[in-house]
Amino acid sequence: MPLNFAVIGCGMLARSQHIPNIAASSKATLHTCCDLSDDALAECRDKYGALHITKDYNAAINNPEVQAICIATTEKMRLPLIQAAAAARKPVYCEKPLAQTLEQMYEIQKIVHESGIPFCVGHNRRSSPAMIDAHRIFRAHMDNPQPCPWRFDREGPNRPKVEGENIASMAVRINDDWYSWKAWAMNKEHAPHGPMLFEMTHFTDLCNWFMAQEPAQVVAVEQGMLSHGIIVKYRGGELVTLFMTANGTFGYPKELYEMFGNGGAVVVDHMLEVRTAGVEGAPATTLYPMLKDRHPKVGAEGGVSGWLAKKRAACAEAAAKGDPALQFTAEPDKGHAHAIDRFVDEISGVGPVVCGVDDAVMATRVAFAAIKSAKENRPVAIEEI
Ligand SMILES: NC(=O)c1ccc[n+]([C@@H]2O[C@H](COP(=O)([O-])OP(=O)(O)OC[C@H]3O[C@@H](n4cnc5c(N)ncnc54)[C@H](O)[C@@H]3O)[C@@H](O)[C@H]2O)c1
Repeated sequence: MPLNFAVIGCGMLARSQHIPNIAASSKATLHTCCDLSDDALAECRDKYGALHITKDYNAAINNPEVQAICIATTEKMRLPLIQAAAAARKPVYCEKPLAQTLEQMYEIQKIVHESGIPFCVGHNRRSSPAMIDAHRIFRAHMDNPQPCPWRFDREGPNRPKVEGENIASMAVRINDDWYSWKAWAMNKEHAPHGPMLFEMTHFTDLCNWFMAQEPAQVVAVEQGMLSHGIIVKYRGGELVTLFMTANGTFGYPKELYEMFGNGGAVVVDHMLEVRTAGVEGAPATTLYPMLKDRHPKVGAEGGVSGWLAKKRAACAEAAAKGDPALQFTAEPDKGHAHAIDRFVDEISGVGPVVCGVDDAVMATRVAFAAIKSAKENRPVAIEEI
């Protein structure tokens, strides 16, 4: 039987992802939509078929028919919703970032632990098909490396022992365009920590997940709120660099993840391609389906080259018609819909924990360590956070 979801906060993200995804899922039912806006609620009912609409989140959470809560309000409004859901013993899928302050975050963690409710944070990329494959391939390669028959082993048996030879590392590059941001993202009162918090927890979460170690120390340098360079060192010695710029373009892939270790590489390019090298038995290139492809005949080979061709065609239409919205086509599958379905499996006891509160807290601590490091111009230990 599908689980009855109440979605609280039916703004941009919820109406572009969670609400249509829940409505289309065989594992979930769009039972209730809750928002303060009449227009948003009318759209939820008329376009997506929400069975009930309300402005009162307590009524939505405590309705005995509601079995799970999806929180998609902005991060200013999380704690009272999670408190109410925990009191009602209902599972919660909560958008990232988990909280706007560390105090609130630790309070949320305590509430979730004490209540024992299933809890999933919307670090949806962990549920992207490309990420799931890359994580499985990379972790198997790190935990049980097979010798690469063509590795250039110059010294062979005389090769000296080198510290760190079995330790993983990772590079993440994020290309974003700040012209696309809502004004609140630039408002210090609403988003006091800028993209280092509201965007970066996705990426710090993936780094922690791929490195499978506890982060130890963070160094960060920033140029205003648009460009950031972050280095994370892990307890096992793993090293990650994360470069984010918002002075980029939607015309080029947003996200590149490159994982290295034990003489191998696993690369996730915009969640469209996974490429590997030096990893015995792993496919060299795997391509993933795109969502909402308006240009199936353009770039039909798929992958990054196919996506670039589709994007160029869409951008040309946008320019010709004077409508920037036309540039959107063939989106990578970032895992939003899978994350909800996988959370239902977790709740039902037939799937793994998707992204639990402790992992989300750690990803958020790394983000706060980076914020502190950039502000104070010094390395920051995770214990300080
Ligand atoms: N995972 C992702 O890929 C992703 C992408 C974008 C945004 N987000 C996150 O999603 C969250 C929402 O972002 P958004 O861009 O949709 O914001 P938004 O401002 O468009 O939507 C927030 C909605 O919450 C509603 N709301 C506020 N207080 C409420 C209350 N007391 N009861 C009911 N509804 C209430 C508002 O009316 C609004 O419709 C943010 O935390 C953001 O960081 C995640």
